Amino acid sequence: MSQINLIGVVGAGTMGAGIAQVAGMAGIDVLLVDTNAAALPKAVKRIHSDLDKGVEKQKVTPEVARVAKEKVKTSSRVDELRGFDFVVEAIVEDRAAKKTLYSQLADILGPRAIVASNTSSISITELASATRNPGSFIGMHFFNPVPRMKLVEVVRGVQTSDATEAVTLALAQRMDKTPVRVNDWPGFVANRILMPMINEAAFALSEGVADPESIDQVMKLGCNFPMGPLELADLIGLDVCLNIMEVLHADLGDSKYRPCPLLRNLVRAGRLGRKAGVGFHDYSEK
Ligand code: CAA
Repeated sequence: MSQINLIGVVGAGTMGAGIAQVAGMAGIDVLLVDTNAAALPKAVKRIHSDLDKGVEKQKVTPEVARVAKEKVKTSSRVDELRGFDFVVEAIVEDRAAKKTLYSQLADILGPRAIVASNTSSISITELASATRNPGSFIGMHFFNPVPRMKLVEVVRGVQTSDATEAVTLALAQRMDKTPVRVNDWPGFVANRILMPMINEAAFALSEGVADPESIDQVMKLGCNFPMGPLELADLIGLDVCLNIMEVLHADLGDSKYRPCPLLRNLVRAGRLGRKAGVGFHDYSEK
């Protein structure tokens, strides 16, 4: 497969919009698809405002912003991806929903088209097994906020072919990311290490070691983290953090991964972090 100049991104949430934006900034044509048509103008608005802010802060050139805005097109129909060679899936972290999408894609994409999942927690090998061409399936795990974070974990499932991996690594580089190859294991590398730290911060909070602001301040000033673990959890979404801890706990079977009951309770209460206006911290007045 020659250089990829056109990609599809399915799922226009935070991650899908970010992935479409960085592809557009690299001069790649993008069709951003979401069957929930209402999500599309919101994603475009988010992309445009991030690019405008980048120009204002002199982090993005006006030319790159202009090109990116032009390159990202949207559609509410998955069948408009017919003939695409590379599709990134960034829909909800739900096995059944992803598998349904892959079977739709199998009907419209050619046999050698690559499908890359942005999943942060589901086994790539398991998802690949649900596709018609497991050799052309791979994990392409971006980080939030996508335009700011350099890393892409490129996750090889048991069946992923060398050619699929090579094309994915080249595409990530072209998107100005640094791809790191990792094997398919629960949580891959980043979340295997990051989520237990966030979970431990929740235990420290629930045991009264310090208040949320102090826990974050200690990790920022003492360990040079750009954000404290609790504010980072609020950025990621506490439901996402809990879900990943549950995967680590279930798949690795070690009690050291048990989710903190406080994290579980906040999720039950709908305090999911920034997107809900409240999580470990309160964002209602900010
Ligand atoms: N486009 C637009 N604006 C840009 C820009 C760009 N390319 N680059 C920078 N800017 C803007 C920033 O938004 C910022 O604007 P404000 O001052 O108005 O906030 C300003 O220019 C300075 O830019 P910085 O990147 O230096 O901003 P910062 O120092 O505030 O850092 C951050 C922000 C990069 C998010 C930093 O806080 C950080 O790295 N946090 C940790 C994020 C993290 O760990 N993410 C991973 C989460 S885990 C995950 O995603 C995986 C999963 O599966 C759950």
